[in-house]
Amino acid sequence: MDRTLTLLGIESSCDDTAAAVVRLDGTAQILSSEVLGQTPLHAAFGGVVPEIAARAHAERLDGVVEDALAKAGVTLADLDGIAVTAGPGLIGGVLSGVMLARGLAAATGLPLIAVNHLAGHALTPRLTDGTAFPYLMLLVSGGHCQFLLVEGVDRFRRLGGTIDDAPGEAFDKTAKLLGLPQPGGPAVEAEAALGDPKRFQFPRPLLDREGCDMSFSGLKTALLRARDALIAEKGGITLQDRRDLCAGFQAAVAEVLAIKTARALGLAGDVTALCVAGGVAANSAIRAMLETVSDRAGVSFLAPPLRLCTDNAAMIAWAGIERMQAGLTTDPGFAARPRWPLDDTAPALLGSGKKGAKA
Ligand code: KG4
Ligand code: ZN
Repeated sequence: MDRTLTLLGIESSCDDTAAAVVRLDGTAQILSSEVLGQTPLHAAFGGVVPEIAARAHAERLDGVVEDALAKAGVTLADLDGIAVTAGPGLIGGVLSGVMLARGLAAATGLPLIAVNHLAGHALTPRLTDGTAFPYLMLLVSGGHCQFLLVEGVDRFRRLGGTIDDAPGEAFDKTAKLLGLPQPGGPAVEAEAALGDPKRFQFPRPLLDREGCDMSFSGLKTALLRARDALIAEKGGITLQDRRDLCAGFQAAVAEVLAIKTARALGLAGDVTALCVAGGVAANSAIRAMLETVSDRAGVSFLAPPLRLCTDNAAMIAWAGIERMQAGLTTDPGFAARPRWPLDDTAPALLGSGKKGAKA
């Protein structure tokens, strides 16, 4: 039997300081979702600097939580619990959120729910569309790439993932190699739209390996070689060269994701849907490929709105609601965890999430 639940969610595991209020009252409603990004703070360093991120979270979390409560039109007294990301992620940032949540819980007596950040992403299709278990989730972002069979609130099976770079990371590195701005995904996609995807044949790694593990690090090396060959040949690359390189690169990523997704659907068995999350899910060429794969497999395709695909706290509040409803409790002595695989039985994916454990 469902009861009305209103939760505050807090997220600070990478470079977004976020707080949200979500209510379940028959249906799920996002009363507020505040996300304060840190891109300008890290821009000069070419990646997220953990110490800068942790300090910024510690300084900004109070204000972001106050904004989220005010925009939702609630006070702490209206809440039924506080959900906080307890990992995986950059530990300083995770600790900032956990300390604040602990303080609020101690002051109010509200229950505290420790949430796995990846579970937040994985359960989002239930927040947005009430998707029934089991479904297949493809998480594709700057820090993660994995196929998760989501069987229950606390039951995830990892079917495969990248063994090195995440696709978003590959997009970002490609942009860097071609002099395009960061984050690289949108810039590379825009260039690719004007290019010829067939001019450069980039590798499709690990297709000969059974299962749905992937590798993207070789792609950027191939791109670097193609770029350098053009430079050696004619002293530089033209705008059209750049567009064609982007198009070839994107086609390779999209094809690998499509082929491996088809395999993952085969491994998953009967599922209600294929869902995607993570920044790379914004790429329309990749989305289109995934939609075709789902159609062929006869399962529906679901991509939550982008603001809920990328890091946010509404997904953390929602995961907290799901856990409370399922009667799952949090040990008050829980620890913040830099690493926290959703599926303890799956072998560790070496090298994935180099930018920090962000999805
Ligand atoms: O989920 P997200 O916001 O956070 C991380 O986990 O990093 O994803 C950001 C990543 C970046 O690497 C960015 O380049 C990529 O998602 N991205 C895209 C697109 N938009 C963002 N990749 C490909 N095509 C896009 N349109
Ligand atoms: Zn994430």
